[in-house]
Amino acid sequence: MSEKILLRHEDVEGIRDLGVYVDDGGYATARRVIGEMEPEAVVEEVKSSGLRGRGGAGFPTGMKWGFLPKDNPKPRYLLVNADESEPGTFKDRQIIENNPHLLIESSVLAAFAIQSHTAYIYIRGEFARGAEILEEAIAAAREAGHLGKDIYGSGFDLDLYVHRGAGAYICGEETGLIESLEGKRAYPRVKPPFPAVYGVFGAPTIVNNVETLCCVRPILERGAEWFKSIGPEKSPGPKLYCVSGHVERPGVFELPMGTNLKDLIYEHSGGIRGGKALKAVIPGGSSVPVLTADEIDVDMDFDSVAAAGSLLGSCGTIVMDEDTCMVRALRIIARFYHHESCGQCTPCREGTGWLERLLLNIENGGATERDLDLLLQVSDNMMGNTVCVLADAAAMPVKSFVEKFRSEFEEHVRLGGRRQDDAAAQPAAPNA
Ligand SMILES: Cc1cc2nc3c(=O)[nH]c(=O)nc-3n(C[C@H](O)[C@H](O)[C@H](O)COP(=O)(O)O)c2cc1C
Ligand code: SF4
Repeated sequence: MSEKILLRHEDVEGIRDLGVYVDDGGYATARRVIGEMEPEAVVEEVKSSGLRGRGGAGFPTGMKWGFLPKDNPKPRYLLVNADESEPGTFKDRQIIENNPHLLIESSVLAAFAIQSHTAYIYIRGEFARGAEILEEAIAAAREAGHLGKDIYGSGFDLDLYVHRGAGAYICGEETGLIESLEGKRAYPRVKPPFPAVYGVFGAPTIVNNVETLCCVRPILERGAEWFKSIGPEKSPGPKLYCVSGHVERPGVFELPMGTNLKDLIYEHSGGIRGGKALKAVIPGGSSVPVLTADEIDVDMDFDSVAAAGSLLGSCGTIVMDEDTCMVRALRIIARFYHHESCGQCTPCREGTGWLERLLLNIENGGATERDLDLLLQVSDNMMGNTVCVLADAAAMPVKSFVEKFRSEFEEHVRLGGRRQDDAAAQPAAPNA
């Protein structure tokens, strides 16, 4: 797949501007679809494309749209999840900052499909430049008649707003996002009811990730069959892979879904920095189980990564070389989840704190062998017992790090802290 679909800005200079986007065929799909197709047919096309959500869970997009109740008289809302806060993930930002009209056109198409007349792009608070770019692009699209009242004389209206996030990871969880959009603290809601039934302002709502939505225009432009021809049958399409950590060329790569992790690291990202050996890879953002160097011969699609014992998640691939201290790496991850827990559920609020403290103790040399088992016990108690899956996201890496690198954790316990070679290689840990 040499042609760029989602990272089109790499092929077409200046596509951020409306004129360049239109010259490249932009908004022609929206004009044709809104003018010629029935909304139900658009949902069917997306369903048959096999598109699965790129926000983390890989849920089929067309199916989600199909869950909207037919008999609810309330308005429907489309929420674009641009919170992008998962550590290691920086793909949505690429589209927002470089090709905002792809997101806007795709949002128009999705809103038409689900018959929503009000849509919000909920953007991570720290993405100030992205928010500005979107505001400018929306104003230009509205001025040119791609948004607003009676789009293309079709009778279809859509208002699209940018809403800046509240600066917390939990605002990316779809019901936390909804609460935040309503002006409240982003406490995730108990599900069911799911947002499709009871979402923002108590109305039927679809929440989709930026990258997911950006697949909608290409699907409607080139057809579901074309989309299905890219990557594996059960999770097709182009995919944005974020690679960070100890590689020669970190970045975002657009490749077919199902690209092998080994190729992603050694071919596209230039291999391990300084010719060092690989130690471990977190394939899908910090919330997913770690893979060892022996486990990287895996195709990066939802089902294959799950079969290999991890998750594709948001596709934030974090690469760690032979010098990485796995205890320190895990402690840093644990600090993040402790800081980001919203505090609503006891197992998460208390558990994330326990994990961080235990890891800090292991790293700094005050732990016993029992603490390793306690770490696993606390993780077990957190999983599946909370309102949202942040608790699982905090526990899963812990279990996999300790299980796969137990000897390193034991060595820290035995030697009373960091190994001598680690101490030389790593800067001192800051106070948590
Ligand atoms: C703690 C937490 C944080 C999340 N953060 C994001 C995020 O930043 N962006 C995102 O698209 N989805 C995020 N999600 C997933 C969303 O809840 C939701 O599943 C997703 O936006 C649905 O879009 P999709 O079907 O297009 O993947 C998060 C989930 C959890 C549990
Ligand atoms: S699991 Fe954690 S982040 Fe999610 S609702 Fe409960 S306390 Fe909040």
